[in-house]
Amino acid sequence: MKKRYYCKRLNETLNFDALKVFYCCATRTGPSCDIPSPKEIKEVLKKRNSLIKMLDKGIVPTECEGCFDLKEQKNPKPLIFSQFAKPPKANLIIVKHFKQCDCSCIYCCEQYLSNRKIVLKPKKSDYYDLLPIIKELYKKDLIDKQELDVHFQGGNVSVLEEFEDLVDIFIKNGVKRIEIATNGIKYLPIVEEICDKTFVDINISIDSGCRETFKKIKTVDKFDDVVENLKKYSKLPILLRLKYILVRGVNDNIEELKKYIDLMKSIGIKTSELMIDQCDNEFLQNGEFIIPKYYYDLFDFYKNYCIENSIEPHIWEYIKEILEKGSFFK
Ligand SMILES: C[S@@+](CC[C@H](N)C(=O)[O-])C[C@H]1O[C@@H](n2cnc3c(N)ncnc32)[C@H](O)[C@@H]1O
Ligand code: SF4
Ligand code: SF4
Repeated sequence: MKKRYYCKRLNETLNFDALKVFYCCATRTGPSCDIPSPKEIKEVLKKRNSLIKMLDKGIVPTECEGCFDLKEQKNPKPLIFSQFAKPPKANLIIVKHFKQCDCSCIYCCEQYLSNRKIVLKPKKSDYYDLLPIIKELYKKDLIDKQELDVHFQGGNVSVLEEFEDLVDIFIKNGVKRIEIATNGIKYLPIVEEICDKTFVDINISIDSGCRETFKKIKTVDKFDDVVENLKKYSKLPILLRLKYILVRGVNDNIEELKKYIDLMKSIGIKTSELMIDQCDNEFLQNGEFIIPKYYYDLFDFYKNYCIENSIEPHIWEYIKEILEKGSFFK
């Protein structure tokens, strides 16, 4: 019997990127569509609906081939979509339609669009305004208000002019959770205003445990500012996560990882995430990138040293898969 599939991400996500709207998160280049004018926003959900139907019939779009989020349908009967049925509402909105940033990390996947230019004052996205699109999504009742989870990525929200207006509209409509990925260089006062109105998750990519390494990676001398801001965030009722991306030849050693974990302990941050630089995969031309043996030692050290210090050592599912396979996927 022909296999039928579904993808949870496809059923829920609208990922507003600079040049396209994607139907899954930043780690995939899955199916996408052009940026609609606000009036045409319904079309984006219609296309998603047709992709869900395709998978249900056993047809896998090229962009989804080999994706580990593709699951086999266990129920024997195909989904029946009425041609008049309303498209499913979105419950995960990813905001990354801007690429400007107040630093320029040497590993950053997004910098190819911003030419590594450092932007210090808030400005509009170079691509489009998202606020009118979000307004239209609410007006047309295309958002699952109770379940909505919003992830701010980018770029860095500290230099996005419409950031606070976007947060306001989500808060006014009862958003369930807001996740903000930021470099932590500039404190975001709006977090204090909203942390008793919704669940707030602040995820800060510091990638280092000292000023020198921070400067090598982020290319700005702002380690001390980030530490001060971390102290402020750590006093708020939010989930505060710190993130470390292993950059080959720069911070991929035990001394630096230890400094990072010691820093977390000294501030009282309880949740960490360790990642591998995805550009190792994306910019490799000939063959695969084989994970070096010492990366396994680093992950082991990370896990044990975090646990010793009562810190949760998180690793993304995606990274777990890569480590199990021993290489990035081609
Ligand atoms: C592009 S950033 C935007 C948000 C914010 N500026 C920040 O740095 O957190 C979103 C996330 O992607 C991660 N990221 C960027 N380039 C990466 C890469 N080459 N490998 C792994 N993660 C990367 C960052 O560390 C960050 O957690
Ligand atoms: S199967 Fe993978 S690539 Fe396709 S929509 Fe889902 S997450 Fe994206
Ligand atoms: S802070 Fe974020 S957006 Fe800015 S350069 Fe670094 S990873 Fe990229």
